Amino acid sequence: MSNAVAILDFGSQYTQLIARRVRGAHVYCELFSWDSPPGDVLALEPRGFILSGGPSSVYAPDAPGLPDYVLEQGVPVLGICYGMQLLARHLEGRVSPAVRREYGAAMVELVAPDVPLLAALSSRNLKVWMSHGDRIESPPPGFEVLARSANSPVAAMGDVGRGLYGLQFHPEVVHTDQGGEILRCFAVDVCGCVPDWTPSTFIERAVARVRDQVGAGWVVCGLSGGVDSAVTATLVHRAVGEQLTCILVNTGLMRRGEPEQVVRTFRERLGMRLVAVDATEGFLRALEGVIDPEQKRRIIGERFIRVFEREARLLEANAVPSEGVRAVRFLAQGTLYPDVIESRGPERQAAARIKTHHNVGGLPEHMSFDLVEPLRYLFKDEVREVGETLGLPEDIVWRQPFPGPGLAVRIIGEVSRERLETLRAADAILLTELEMAGLLRGATQQAFAVLLPIRSVGVMGDERTYQHVIALRAVTTEDFMTADWARLDPELLARISSRIVNEVPGVNRVVYDITSKPPSTIEWE
Ligand code: XMP
Repeated sequence: MSNAVAILDFGSQYTQLIARRVRGAHVYCELFSWDSPPGDVLALEPRGFILSGGPSSVYAPDAPGLPDYVLEQGVPVLGICYGMQLLARHLEGRVSPAVRREYGAAMVELVAPDVPLLAALSSRNLKVWMSHGDRIESPPPGFEVLARSANSPVAAMGDVGRGLYGLQFHPEVVHTDQGGEILRCFAVDVCGCVPDWTPSTFIERAVARVRDQVGAGWVVCGLSGGVDSAVTATLVHRAVGEQLTCILVNTGLMRRGEPEQVVRTFRERLGMRLVAVDATEGFLRALEGVIDPEQKRRIIGERFIRVFEREARLLEANAVPSEGVRAVRFLAQGTLYPDVIESRGPERQAAARIKTHHNVGGLPEHMSFDLVEPLRYLFKDEVREVGETLGLPEDIVWRQPFPGPGLAVRIIGEVSRERLETLRAADAILLTELEMAGLLRGATQQAFAVLLPIRSVGVMGDERTYQHVIALRAVTTEDFMTADWARLDPELLARISSRIVNEVPGVNRVVYDITSKPPSTIEWE
């Protein structure tokens, strides 16, 4: 049996959080859709199952069911919310349909605080997060009530002998006191997993796996300056050294100093083979006259693939025979676990498409490469921990996300060399000031400048001006799905505004974006 927990997803918006909390307790886990082929789930050889919440009622005619193999394994099971109701229904407890929905904070009292799932908690009364319709009236035979709340006579239940537990509340959300501890207890104390999932063990295994996969083959990896591609390249470099060549495509749409910094870090500091191509000219020509954001994304995505492909073929053509290079067979890329999960379930794919997120460095579909994806099972925060453990520089590990199409989607309207220069200069001032104020790693998760397609009237030294407007955007967010505008200090905003107007030629007005997402998005295009 492996040292892992399998999480079955019944459609809750919090399912990924369960996985992150379990990983946070240093136990490896994977997410599966509730109707995944049993063989896929059992290949993990899980020491326990967690059944997630979900939007259905167990009474709905097409409600997702509990697959038989789960209880047949004889390992512990923790049902959360819908997962608990499924367990209760399956084992002949009494679930009653919603009379009144319960949503939000509630207090639960632990009535059996000594069971393995709860024994490590420091308090008998917990503030928890509830979000359910149906509730359990009486637990199945063999189960005892472990906790209750004003609205839920069975807020937690358990059959300690069989290691089967159910929670009506959501231990995975931050609003639940000691929720992470409950999940840790389940994985470690109830399932018996050894908490050995750490950045160092991950690195060791990932390096071994890449070495196995690649053998004596040649690998290319696109570097963007972001943390995902940086960590991917570093792992692959550890595994196969000189067999890896990184390719940096300078689209001309990167921020000030970015291409130079990538070259300095990877070629000079980390000693990797790195080919840097300046493709600015071609990208700008292709973007001439283009205003529509989605068309910009399409053009940039396609062009990127063409340049990347050409560079990979050039590498082969120029290879020295003594190096044994015949063909570049592998493409390393920084796909993360949320991308994998998101592209899996049909219901998740159906989510409305707001923007096409072309990832520069993303998969060129028609290219004949085998993929090397060492981060495929990691969440972003785990990638950062791995990056730190690998000794990557802080400014790469903690770099804020930057969209693949770069500054092109931050210049509203047509992109030109001159407009890029204006935006780059304003953006650099914003980022330098935030950095100096120590705000880039917490006070805001993403901050940037946007160049608007309008001019406005101003007055400078008694002269009328008619010049560009820069909008500043700084947001706080946990997951980039929702966001709020950062309440930056007005003095700091004043300094940034005055520096931009004084130092960036052609700009006479600066505005601050005070909309949240939704209804806005983080980027303007
Ligand atoms: P929005 O603007 O949709 O952005 O609120 C959410 C997050 O995604 C980033 N973003 C992109 N990333 N290619 C990318 O690789 C894109 O086309 C793209 N558009 C938006 C955005 O910067 C934010 O972090």
